[in-house]
Amino acid sequence: MGALGAPVGEQVGLAFGAILVRPLRPDDRLAYYRFLRRLDPEDVRLRMGRMIRADRRLCDRLLEFDRSREEAFVALDPDGAILGVARIVLDAGGEIAVIVRSDMKHRGIGDALLERIVRFAHGRGLAEIRGYVMHENWPMLSLARKHGGRFVNAPLSSLVELRFPTA
Ligand SMILES: CC(C)(COP(=O)(O)OP(=O)(O)OC[C@H]1O[C@@H](n2cnc3c(N)ncnc32)[C@H](O)[C@@H]1OP(=O)(O)O)[C@@H](O)C(=O)NCCC(=O)NCCS
Repeated sequence: MGALGAPVGEQVGLAFGAILVRPLRPDDRLAYYRFLRRLDPEDVRLRMGRMIRADRRLCDRLLEFDRSREEAFVALDPDGAILGVARIVLDAGGEIAVIVRSDMKHRGIGDALLERIVRFAHGRGLAEIRGYVMHENWPMLSLARKHGGRFVNAPLSSLVELRFPTA
């Protein structure tokens, strides 16, 4: 429990074991850096929309954000290693992004993170959230479909815009 009695995280049982899903914290810096180091460049490209070095600078940038307009959730293993991160920018129409550690994909972690982000958005009064996904990113397109995502016009031909209801 947190200082005010609010739960700090939620356990999610998956076939390989339990994960903890909770908001990203400033003291996650080392775990976050280790997580970034274990991402395949192709996964980083699919998440960021371009090739980008997953280094300490990126880590710092991803850890420092304004919580009045943005939130991030991490999925942790029992040792505290980060297995995935989902992020939402509230004032960009609820724009979301998810990434799972490359060696842990397709085990339900992205699903759990997306489910948490959808609930968070609902709690913040958003009826819908959106994501921009490369058209070749079929794992994310398939995950989106599972969560009621629909495809709408994309601003760039290389991207698909997804919209999900939060309720
Ligand atoms: C997209 C991504 C976040 C999905 O996370 P994940 O933990 O691997 O996905 P899950 O195991 O929770 O899968 C949930 C659903 O997604 C779809 N999915 C995920 N990986 C898939 C794959 N390799 N093949 C087919 N469907 C897949 C399926 O619908 C799956 O449901 P199912 O298990 O009932 O078939 C992950 O692949 C990733 O990090 N990719 C790189 C970064 C990225 O592309 N981010 C999205 C940009 S916003």
